[in-house]
Amino acid sequence: MRLDDEQRLALARQAAERAAGALRPFLNGQAGVLAADGRDIKTRADLAAEAALLEALAGTGPVLAEESGASAGVDLEAGTWVIDPLDGTLNFTRGFPMAAVSVAWWAGGEPRLGVVLDLGSGDCFEGCVGSGARLNGRQIAVSDIQDPGQAILATGFPSGASQDTDVLLPFLRRLQRVKKVRLLGSAALSLAQVAAGRFDLYHEDGIWLWDVAAGLALVRAAGGKIAPLEIRDDWTCNCLASNGHLPLNQLLDS
Ligand code: IPD
Ligand code: CA
Repeated sequence: MRLDDEQRLALARQAAERAAGALRPFLNGQAGVLAADGRDIKTRADLAAEAALLEALAGTGPVLAEESGASAGVDLEAGTWVIDPLDGTLNFTRGFPMAAVSVAWWAGGEPRLGVVLDLGSGDCFEGCVGSGARLNGRQIAVSDIQDPGQAILATGFPSGASQDTDVLLPFLRRLQRVKKVRLLGSAALSLAQVAAGRFDLYHEDGIWLWDVAAGLALVRAAGGKIAPLEIRDDWTCNCLASNGHLPLNQLLDS
């Protein structure tokens, strides 16, 4: 089925809402933990939400999904859905309201459109490059902060990444350069805050594409910038997105 961007965005929103519905029985710390290896966690809630997303998107393009991986025909140039049924899984299992459903369309090698549905507040962030970003239907835009000393940096530490001291040292230097650092435990919601101008910068190394795809589309749609992504074979990448006004070289210099 061939869809234009507007139709795809509407479909992404409907799919995210269906996934949120599938997550409802698992709310309040009842996520049904299936595995908790090291810092990673898998739950019945992730699987139920992904099944709902896959059903809603069926027949509309190949899908790269957190739980089931890449379907046949996945092609980030030609067009692919990139979905995370539950971003912020650990928060969700603990009843901490910072988790989201994330649905993106990636095409031309770039994040094109995305929906991030905040499960705690019900807030719906959506956007398409070229036609803007919205929060619950109201237009949003990135901040205009230029001074790193006034900036809020959102970041995170992927479950698979090294937390050796030498790996963490560059993070400490960044922390010293900005006003505040925020770790929400959901990459999708962190990026949505950058798109809404509440945070100014998001940076995370070794993050999976499905965690950031919709959020990256939101930041672009809201007038921000993302650094070129090198996507590895395991679908991880180093991710940097900002309001487009901060001097990133100065900020990230290690
Ligand atoms: C995680 C969250 C977290 C980020 C991790 C991700 P998940 O995703 O986005 O903020 O720091 O890198 O893996 O596992 O909750 O979908
Ligand atoms: Ca997830």
